Amino acid sequence: MTVTIVGSQLGDEGKGGIVDVYGDAADVVVRYQGGDNAGHTVVRDGEEYKLSLVPSGAVRGKTNVLGNGCVVNPATLFDELDALRERGLDPDVRVARRAHVILPYHRVLDGIEEDAKSETDSEVGTTGRGIGPTYEDKAGRRGVRAGELADPEILRDRLEYVVPQKRALAEDVFGVDVGETEAFDLEALYEEYSDYGRRLREEGMLVDAGAFLADRIDDGETVMFEGAQGTVLDIDHGNYPYVTSSNPTAGGAAVGSGVGPATVGDGEVVGVVKAYLSRVGSGPMPTELAGVEGDTPGYDGDAADHEEELADHIREAGGEYGTVTGRPRRVGWLDVPMLRHAARTSGFTGLAVNHVDTLAGLEEVKVAHAYDLDGETLETIPATTERWADCEPVFRSFDGWQDVDWTAVAETGYDAVPDNARAYLEYLAEEVGAPIYAVGVGPDREETVIVENPF
Ligand code: GDP
Ligand code: IMO
Ligand code: MG
Repeated sequence: MTVTIVGSQLGDEGKGGIVDVYGDAADVVVRYQGGDNAGHTVVRDGEEYKLSLVPSGAVRGKTNVLGNGCVVNPATLFDELDALRERGLDPDVRVARRAHVILPYHRVLDGIEEDAKSETDSEVGTTGRGIGPTYEDKAGRRGVRAGELADPEILRDRLEYVVPQKRALAEDVFGVDVGETEAFDLEALYEEYSDYGRRLREEGMLVDAGAFLADRIDDGETVMFEGAQGTVLDIDHGNYPYVTSSNPTAGGAAVGSGVGPATVGDGEVVGVVKAYLSRVGSGPMPTELAGVEGDTPGYDGDAADHEEELADHIREAGGEYGTVTGRPRRVGWLDVPMLRHAARTSGFTGLAVNHVDTLAGLEEVKVAHAYDLDGETLETIPATTERWADCEPVFRSFDGWQDVDWTAVAETGYDAVPDNARAYLEYLAEEVGAPIYAVGVGPDREETVIVENPF
């Protein structure tokens, strides 16, 4: 049986924590898309693990797989593995031979393209990890796959074809002189990446992910799919072009791992929801409170005082600052049309709603129940980003709930969740059409109210 964990919003919903909470019953944890653009947090007994590439199952000592749908930067993978070992874990991570490799020129080109776009204020605000350029090369049939790193001759052939092209792209198209940069130096790349290939092979990390998982499933083992990013960042179902370059939605779990869609669909699909909304980078956000200069389109720091205060309060209470950059994240009220879209796209069988504690103490909690677009009421997100940007939220208001001893609430169970918070959760479940499986009331593993275990 499989359980798929999917972000319902714009990433950072707390997927890592939910994978950890339910992960006890999983034998294998699989990332099926994305790369080190992700930042997943697991907190166990107050100890925090921030994982960008290693699946969150590593904290519980599970077998972990980076599926063929992932893009793998071997440098960050090995750094992360070493750091986890230093902290006393013994991570078992397998890498699909079909997964594509992020090379240094991908990162450089990610930055170059963002710079070029910034001249017309149209940058995406990517994580700069080379994600888009790597998926471009995959689709362009000029990528390097993890399995090929371990075969020096093939690796050399691939690099001989692609590196001059990348150099020409940087220099002739974008007018950026990359000169002697190692990122575009064929020999240096060959040396470094054939070394990674050797290490992957020697450590027995390379697998045919589909076959590997099929065997485990045949043996009666349980598989958890750990989505990265979120539905509105999905390249097909998100707000293009302010998206990532992969499919975080549940369909991606099949394509990105080699497990058949019927197997994924036979299992459970849990949508992870943050009880409000946060966004990193550019793009529309109809329920945004105040704004963040440089990220919020057209925002110049001029917002109503009460909105600014509310945004600051939620940002502080929820720790909404970038993990790497420390940049403040954009925050806003929960967007229910977005969640209806997410539930339909991935077929949620249950919801895990995090950060219910973060909203505690507010007198009023609002949600966008629908949108108004030129006088028309919409219940779900429009397919074009320009139309979405024109949507005005139609708010509903809920009475707030008090701050309580959340660890005690988690211990006692759902009935101990304050009444007003339960009314909020039940409204959400009703609108989205999926029951509440878990309620996050703090970052720690012990601070989750488990209503239902999908395993
Ligand atoms: P992910 O990318 O979806 O795995 O989420 P992140 O780890 O990027 O961001 C979620 C942040 O919120 C992390 O710092 C978590 O430890 C924290 N978090 C998760 N669930 C809760 C919750 O229910 N309450 C609070 N206060 N923090 C939470
Ligand atoms: P997790 O898994 C939040 C955003 C970036 C940018 C856009 C494209 O931790 O939820 P990319 O580098 O992927 O080409 O950037 O997607 N983004 C995320 N935002 N959480 C993430 O991951 C994200 N991964 C990418 O900010 O707007
Ligand atoms: Mg994150």
